[in-house]
Amino acid sequence: MIELRQITKQFGQGASAVRALDSISLHVPEGCIYGVVGSSGAGKSTLIRCVNLLERPSSGKVIVRGKDLTAMAESDLRRERRHIGMIFQHFNLLSSRTVFGNIALPLELAGMSSAEIETMVLPLLELTGLSDKRNSYPSQLSGGQKQRVAIARALASRPRVLLCDEATSALDPATTVAILNLLKDINRKLGLTILMITHEMDVVKSICDRVAILSQGQLIEENDVEQFFLSPKTELAREFVRTAIHEKRPNDLESGFQTEPAPGARPVIRITFVGRTVGQPLITKASRQFGVDISIMQADIETVNGKSMGFLMVELFGSETAVDEAIKYLRSQEVSVEVVGYVH
Ligand SMILES: Nc1ncnc2c1ncn2[C@@H]1O[C@H](COP(=O)(O)OP(=O)(O)O)[C@@H](O)[C@H]1O
Ligand SMILES: [Mg+2]
Repeated sequence: MIELRQITKQFGQGASAVRALDSISLHVPEGCIYGVVGSSGAGKSTLIRCVNLLERPSSGKVIVRGKDLTAMAESDLRRERRHIGMIFQHFNLLSSRTVFGNIALPLELAGMSSAEIETMVLPLLELTGLSDKRNSYPSQLSGGQKQRVAIARALASRPRVLLCDEATSALDPATTVAILNLLKDINRKLGLTILMITHEMDVVKSICDRVAILSQGQLIEENDVEQFFLSPKTELAREFVRTAIHEKRPNDLESGFQTEPAPGARPVIRITFVGRTVGQPLITKASRQFGVDISIMQADIETVNGKSMGFLMVELFGSETAVDEAIKYLRSQEVSVEVVGYVH
């Protein structure tokens, strides 16, 4: 649905040039909720603005719904942009217009009659839970309600793609959950493809099907969300996962923690699995079968894109051979196992 091919974006020239995006390629399948996470300044906003060519890439191709936007004449591009909705962190509503007036704006600009506009806006008010606010002005609304208006406005021209630039970053946690649920609902009901960029891994955990990590303009890791949580490959990905599962670092839990093995040091392993009931029986079995004691340092069950996932960090006590055998056994099971370090 959205395909970026080797997108590079440079701002400025010469010594002061900033390369905001460095040869980014990614594919967002139809109907997918795709998250791009990265720290501030990573290039996320530049990336999402390149998708509808609000920002023109310095090189590379942007293909949306099978059409190469980068090769289009301005008039064709304007038409194509109607199929791409966008929402922002700060809502960008017109304060002089009512809720109805804000949602109707793109339809007025497209030259529709007021009767047609009415028949299109009413279901959107309904869908976004704003029916009783149609005559209110933005200043009379909460942040969550404002974002609902922005979503309804973005949907007015019946886009197939919705771009969200930090859409929940200005909202409190409860409102964030409500807006994310609304986006998921729209994704299901309308089959809308959603590309969201965010600095919050919690957003990805709640609703995304796939995720990519952007760092200093480069896409450093990309995966299905479940796989991403099961086995992040880069240190940055692990850091993002850690924030979403509220995992403490092992050196904050145990004073004698180190990353290198040493004689007499006990391994600390992280076990990640899908399902609520997978972890504990395996640990019990490994402990019995190989005669190792297993002590749980932290344990957490999280819902990742609607599925339960378990995150355990445990310390293994026993002879070196027994501990190795136990780890080997765990690795042969349907769980992801990683030795994170050792404790004295
Ligand atoms: N219009 C611009 N002119 C010059 N530099 C820019 C412009 N927009 C973004 N940048 C730079 O590009 C980099 C990425 O910015 P941005 O895409 O806004 O990151 P993010 O959204 O991840 O915080 C930053 O170094 C930023 O300063
Ligand atoms: Mg940004």
